[in-house]
Amino acid sequence: MQINKKYYHTIWVKENSSSVIEIIDQRYLPFEFRVVELKTLKDAFVAIKEMLVRGAPLIGVTAAYGMYLGMLDLKKSENIDQEIRKIGDYLESSRPTAVNLRYAVELIIEKTKSVKDINQKISVALQTANELKEKEIENCRLIGENGLSLIEKISKAKKGDTVNILTHCNAGWLACVDYGTATAPIYLAHKKGIKLHVWVDETRPRNQGARLTAFELGQEGIDHTIIADNTGGLLMQKGMVDLVIVGSDRTSANGDVANKIGTYLKALAAHDNNIPFYVALPLSTIDFNMTDGVKQIPIEQRDENEVRFIDGWLDNKINNVRIVPENSKAANYGFDVTPAKYVTALITEKGVCKANKQDIEKLK
Ligand code: MRU
Repeated sequence: MQINKKYYHTIWVKENSSSVIEIIDQRYLPFEFRVVELKTLKDAFVAIKEMLVRGAPLIGVTAAYGMYLGMLDLKKSENIDQEIRKIGDYLESSRPTAVNLRYAVELIIEKTKSVKDINQKISVALQTANELKEKEIENCRLIGENGLSLIEKISKAKKGDTVNILTHCNAGWLACVDYGTATAPIYLAHKKGIKLHVWVDETRPRNQGARLTAFELGQEGIDHTIIADNTGGLLMQKGMVDLVIVGSDRTSANGDVANKIGTYLKALAAHDNNIPFYVALPLSTIDFNMTDGVKQIPIEQRDENEVRFIDGWLDNKINNVRIVPENSKAANYGFDVTPAKYVTALITEKGVCKANKQDIEKLK
């Protein structure tokens, strides 16, 4: 998608330098546009952990390139596959909730097992990371096509009146490689000329909605309004939301959906107001081995200072200021899990399906 009318992906191999991966450092958006080079396994680990990159599909693709960067430093050894496994374990320890991370690591391990020579393994790893990147782009495009018909239907029922969509966090192209998951149907609907407007939850504490979703929707010329996180319920009661679309960091085989903290409360409000609540996600976000997401999905807890302090733009630079009493502590749970019963349907690259075990199994 575009930034200042130029097309970007969120991650790419540096031109003429295949041992360097470039990313957009999302910690500075929307205030500054900075591209950062990843040259080592540690660089990739830090990029994921410190959230230079974030969002489940992008975490996965970064991890795939991280495996490749780690393998570049491997010397010839007897236990090369064991070393590759160690690289994978290290990367997997960077963030616990998004299952795309494990998916990508396992994919590289699986593909590189079949060749013996280290140089061949390295080139297979790079090729696999590139293929995963392309696949995630195509997945998001297909999610967009599959979700578009849902928006079209509502637009028709409203006789062409503006369709109001509420979204939480950033499940946009910045969380993926291109298009996004929750935003893909929105971008395609906009392109088709359907009148729409997006309510953007600010998404405390890191404000991925206010900072990233608002930024990318603005860059694409899509009408949107940022709301404080607790506003959605009121808007739904007043008939100002036609549907909710969110992304997911991990969805279990029974259809429970982990997504950014606060998603669950939006699902409850949508349920109470008979508003469709859709979750857009690629199959790489489904944990087919997990039977009960509410009980089993690991919830990341992050630094309390992400709650106690906030970033803002002042005097031509980003400032980080404390917004709570000096000695008050804070808790920072990154995600929550919405039980499947509150999910109207999942929008995937393979089609729209009910959030239950039988229908999810058929996607495989
Ligand atoms: O902590 P983040 O910014 O990585 O969390 C991102 C989200 O919760 C997204 O909604 C989710 O990854 C879906 S991304 C397409």
